[in-house]
Amino acid sequence: MLRPSILLPTCVLSIVSVAQVMNPMAVPPALDLDTFDLDVDEHVVNFYPGVNTNTYGASAPYLGPTLILHRGDTARVRVHNHLGQVTSMHWHCMRVPGWADGGPPREVLPGESWFVEFPVNNRAATFWYHPHPDGLTAEQANFGVAGAIVVRDSVEAALDLPRSYGVDDLPVVIQDRRFAPNGNFVFAAYGDSVLVNGTSHAYVECPAQVVRLRLLNGSNARVYQLGFEDGRTFHVIAGDGGLLAAPVPTDRLPLSNGERAEVLVDLTGMAGDSLLLMSFGSELPLTVPGSDHPLWESSALNGIDFAVLRIRVTAPTADPVTVIPASLVTVTPPDEADAVRTRTKILAGMGMVGMGMFTINGLMFDPAVVNDTMLLGTTEVWEIENISNMAHPMHLHGGSFYVLDRDGAPPHPWESGPKDVVLVDAGASARIIMRFDDLSDGWPFMYHCHNLMHEDNMMMLQYIVVDPNTGSVPVRPEAASIHPVPSDGRFTYRCPFPPEELRITDTIGREVHRQGSLPQRGELTPPLSPGTYIATFSTGARRAIAHLVIQ
Ligand code: C2O
Ligand code: CU
Ligand code: CU
Repeated sequence: MLRPSILLPTCVLSIVSVAQVMNPMAVPPALDLDTFDLDVDEHVVNFYPGVNTNTYGASAPYLGPTLILHRGDTARVRVHNHLGQVTSMHWHCMRVPGWADGGPPREVLPGESWFVEFPVNNRAATFWYHPHPDGLTAEQANFGVAGAIVVRDSVEAALDLPRSYGVDDLPVVIQDRRFAPNGNFVFAAYGDSVLVNGTSHAYVECPAQVVRLRLLNGSNARVYQLGFEDGRTFHVIAGDGGLLAAPVPTDRLPLSNGERAEVLVDLTGMAGDSLLLMSFGSELPLTVPGSDHPLWESSALNGIDFAVLRIRVTAPTADPVTVIPASLVTVTPPDEADAVRTRTKILAGMGMVGMGMFTINGLMFDPAVVNDTMLLGTTEVWEIENISNMAHPMHLHGGSFYVLDRDGAPPHPWESGPKDVVLVDAGASARIIMRFDDLSDGWPFMYHCHNLMHEDNMMMLQYIVVDPNTGSVPVRPEAASIHPVPSDGRFTYRCPFPPEELRITDTIGREVHRQGSLPQRGELTPPLSPGTYIATFSTGARRAIAHLVIQ
């Protein structure tokens, strides 16, 4: 069954009449910079001609640029919040220390900026960034704040893989959106229109050779069952956190919320032809959001097979990749024998996709409660058991895990690399193994369902990683703010309490300035040379930090 993917409210006739026109897929600019600026702001976009839709974007009207990072380098990003509400930015799910993770505790208030700097420890892979403020993640992501991150490394660079961004290596961010009659997005579990990189009815021109698609499910709740209209075999080369040991041939790939997969599609000899990337929603089990479960929210895309992206094949490039490599990288999951403990996480609850009440071990998110404490450098097995009425894409911050098994059987072959989202169906279980290598350092890591409706409805808990050698459980610092970032040496600050002391340290912790009793807010011009610093305001047991960049 193949129906068109355009399903707007029928009252919007002007939209429907033009909607069959195919639009060239937007390819976000790939930025390879020393410091990135992400301006989170409000915009208006015409997804359909003449129809204004209010959006948010990150330095773009909708979505944001692709950030190119290099393993071993330092990533630096300034996030500027121009919204009228609090935001934050999460580097889903790169290996970063807790303070840089951008989860709910790490708020960026309206009008403020956040400077973050972290070593790029991940292998070559496709990550993404999105806001993560408590209770507002889904809404802000729904409005359009998200973007891809491409990590490159020397191991990947030595492989004969397509990597000309925008030519044979393309980000494909898949989102379903529902439009109200006035053109605005409806914030709901399901949408009825498919956007690819923010383009409705998208087509993309690809050369007649092996091309690489970096697929990301950026939808609120819908799970996609991806494949091609002609049932052809394609090859999965990477999952969420890195390349697989060898390309995995398949004709179907389920992709749940937050999940990524890199696939190779061989278009050799197809110049002039075209090919349709589809979601075979009719194949989804009833328990998986996107099926046409009769008791759940309805959407015209539920339970049907629909078009995602049309690929129009053009002439090959001068230096095409024409062969799918036989092997890729060495994948070394932690050894189960090294696991120091097993934790069981039970997903429970009943409800509809966007309106359920779901819990993890009977608990819901409480920012004041740390649910689990890990010891730095140790490995654990987590057994995720789903006794609720629907599938949940479970996600852990703080790095990548590996799927050990599903209901005791080996995971899907394309799940054999590093991952950070695992879709666990109703009545099913999965065991994952993870090594905790980054300190939370006072800023807890989250673990949650990546169905954004569930996440914002508190299906989220948090853990900390402590150093067993010091044994200390650090107190979470509060946030001070500093303006502007960067500054020319003179800046204003605001502290949540009257500080007795201000210490300014450089990024490796050396003190460069110290001064005593200050008002709660004021202006400072400390003698600092250009660079990046951390300002720590303190009094008694309270501590508030802010980042400082002097140009
Ligand atoms: Cu995609 Cu908690 O994140
Ligand atoms: Cu994450
Ligand atoms: Cu869920």
